[in-house]
Amino acid sequence: MMTVMGFDVALMLAGALEASREGAIARRTGASMRPSHRRAIASTPCARARDVRARVGSGKFIVGGNWKCNGSRASVRELLRELNEGALGDNVEVVVAPPFLFIDDAMATLRKPYQVAAQNCWVEPGLVDPTHHYDSDTGAFTGEVSAEMLEDLGIPWVILGHSERRNLFKESNEFVGKKVAHARYHGLNVIVCVGETLEERESGKTMDVIFAQLQAVADEIDDKEHSSWGSQVVIAYEPIWAIGTGKVATPDQVQEVHAKIRKWLADNVSEEVARETRIQYGGSVNAQNCADIARLSDIDGFLVGGASLKGEDFVKICNASSVHYKAVGRARK
Ligand code: PGA
Repeated sequence: MMTVMGFDVALMLAGALEASREGAIARRTGASMRPSHRRAIASTPCARARDVRARVGSGKFIVGGNWKCNGSRASVRELLRELNEGALGDNVEVVVAPPFLFIDDAMATLRKPYQVAAQNCWVEPGLVDPTHHYDSDTGAFTGEVSAEMLEDLGIPWVILGHSERRNLFKESNEFVGKKVAHARYHGLNVIVCVGETLEERESGKTMDVIFAQLQAVADEIDDKEHSSWGSQVVIAYEPIWAIGTGKVATPDQVQEVHAKIRKWLADNVSEEVARETRIQYGGSVNAQNCADIARLSDIDGFLVGGASLKGEDFVKICNASSVHYKAVGRARK
């Protein structure tokens, strides 16, 4: 297993495996190896290791705006204007996720510190790859967008495993785990969503469901003992019964689940990762209820759907970061 090897050695081996796999794909598809890929293979292992280490997390409060499949050219322009006019505090990291077609507009228009995310990206689900890089995302996959394309366009974040993708598009835990590993390989930061249905909560299965979702991600992480995924992967706890329903989870429910997720990370990944990983709450967060949840110690931010479509409200939710830092007495990052 890679986890028992030195990180650089493991990555070099991964690079060699990847190169041979790329060759195998080229043989299978009749395509020659892409020059960009050849360059990447020649130079990456150590470079990527350095990249990964350099991205140690800041632990900053982080708020995501998931616009889902909403917006028109005109409404998106208006929303971008409202966001740019909002007075954002400097103690919060903010990531907005427009539909693919509007990402370009958002990247060109939004001022700092706004960052942009895609709402999904692709990896071939049936692929088995011991390197966990699954580098076959470009090709005959009509209608999909690859992690490689997001990397190419400089899109820094992607949301993966949202319950709408898991439920409506039948994405399994394993598929989501593969996507997370693959997106990380392309240098993307990931917000990975986990959460239970009402039925699962009522039958006492909340943590079993969430741990299985987390395990499927952890199974794909080769460099568990390093902190990189703590800074590169944000976990969004989103109880499905609270999404878009106006039924927000109580502060106690949220704190309990977040604390258990953090303990699970400490027990199953590492103490360092548990400390560094930011855990967001998502599900009917709005400008009125955000402060109550932001006060909790294990809440490192929000993932917001409906209320992220109203610029002024979203900025208020982002600024709940101040409530968090004050309540938990944590040094401002
Ligand atoms: P909501 O959605 O804020 O509209 O409940 C949250 C989400 O799905 O990320």
